[in-house]
This record gives sequence, C-alpha cells and structure tokens, in this order.
Amino acid sequence: MRALEEYTVENKTTRVLIFDTAEEIAEFAADAVTYAIRRKPHLALGLATGSSPVPLYRKLIEKHRAGEVSFARVKTYNLDEYWLMDPASPLSFRGFMRENLFDHIDLPEASVHIPAGDAPDGEAEAVRYEAELAELGGVDIQILGIGSDGHIGFNEPGERFVYGTHVTALTEQTRRDNARFFNSVDEVPTHAITMGAGDIMRAKKCLLIATGKNKAEAIRKALLEDPTPACQASILQFHPNAVFLLDREAAGELEMKTEN
Ligand code: GLP
Repeated sequence: MRALEEYTVENKTTRVLIFDTAEEIAEFAADAVTYAIRRKPHLALGLATGSSPVPLYRKLIEKHRAGEVSFARVKTYNLDEYWLMDPASPLSFRGFMRENLFDHIDLPEASVHIPAGDAPDGEAEAVRYEAELAELGGVDIQILGIGSDGHIGFNEPGERFVYGTHVTALTEQTRRDNARFFNSVDEVPTHAITMGAGDIMRAKKCLLIATGKNKAEAIRKALLEDPTPACQASILQFHPNAVFLLDREAAGELEMKTEN
C-alpha cells in the first residue's frame, strides 16, 4: 500500500506518510508489523487502545486467520490502563484489547503485559510495570494513537515530560473523549497508570496513527512546533524512528511538502 505523500519533517528524523483512508493506514501498518514479526518472531509489540488502532488490529486478525502471521512467540505491552479498574471489565483496556485483538489471535495470555488496573497501590504497580519495561529495554514497535490534546498513552499536557510508568490524573477533556465507551463521563475513571515519555522513546520504532479533523491541530503541534510537554506527542520529534501515519484530515494543518 503506497502513501499519497511521504516526507521527513525538516531537520528531524520523523517521517510522515499520508493516506487516503484509515483502511489504507491499517493495511500499511499491518504489513509493517507482520513483516517485523516474521523477521523477529519473539518481537515485543507495544499496543495502544482507542479507535485509531482498531482497523490495524482487524487487519492483524485477518492476516493471522489467513496463516500469514503467528503471535505465539510475540510479547505485548500496553501503553496504559485505567486506575482503579477491574481488569475483567469490558470497560478496561485489557477488556478492550481482548475484544479487539487478543481473543482472535494465538497470543499466549502470559505474553500480555498491561498495568493492573485493580492494583491497590497504583504507584507500586507503576514501579513494577516500569521494571518490566526497563528489563525489556524498549519494545521493538510501539503502536500509538494521539489525543485531541496531543497526549500519547495517558501522558497529558503538563509542565514536564514524565520519564517512567506512573499514575496520572486524567484531564476533563480526556475523560470526555473516552466517555463514549461508558454510560456517562462520571463513570470514566479519574486516573490511569501509563507508560511515560521515556518508556515510549525507548521503543526502537514508533508508528503513530491519527485520522480525522479533530486530530489535525495536535498533529501540527506534535510535528511542526517546538517540542513541549504541553503537547506530549511532540517529544517524538527527537525519536530516531517515529513514523506518523495520517489520513488527509489529520494532516490538514501540515503544509504540503515535496517528497524527499
Ligand atoms: C486514549 C488512550 C490513548 C489514545 C487516545 C486517542 O486517551 N489512552 O492511547 O491514543 O485515547 O484515542 P482515539 O484513537 O480513539 O482518538
């Protein structure tokens, strides 16, 4: 699947690929992930939740069912989990991942790594998860979405980039953005345990998927303005191998570039 346009952000290593549709983005990303797993069957795959990665997960399930890829030796690490949240709840990110990927592929349960949403001590769980990630030394490919406020995982706009896995309070904007999965915004947890910016930057490769007009401003700030904790995704400008997979709407505030 070829992008409509492909270029490197000026003076950086970040690559931008613009596609016609979310489906084409998913096809491209699924090909990249499948190829990486074929080359490294015990690949460490960082996963995101939200709507943006769902078409990719659907394509990975299709490829698995077609016998094109096995996840038997893959390890997965999710960016975040609500806290407090029962991991058995369909509203948890673990429940989201089961419904949208895990229950449809041959990934062993023991290979799934997600912060425990029901851990009585959130900070202790964050330390535990960080130790797992530190031992791994960074995932091979980190799938990312982006919040309308530029957050990645649940690293919310703030005064600083937080290096390691930590407990974070969710902004009202983020709770509203995620309320569609709950009966009401009041039911959206107020906190989450999330990988920090350092964990994400340790990934060997980042694939950030963004579609729709509501992400255009966050994408412009993430790619074209000076990196700042006010737009957490902007730290990816310093990542050596970050690729933004965008549809036309999400790329709407990026001026046209010539391919280079
Ligand atoms: C949540 C998740 C993020 C995700 C963001 C955007 O906040 N914690 O990982 O990127 O939502 O979700 P969507 O892709 O549905 O716009």
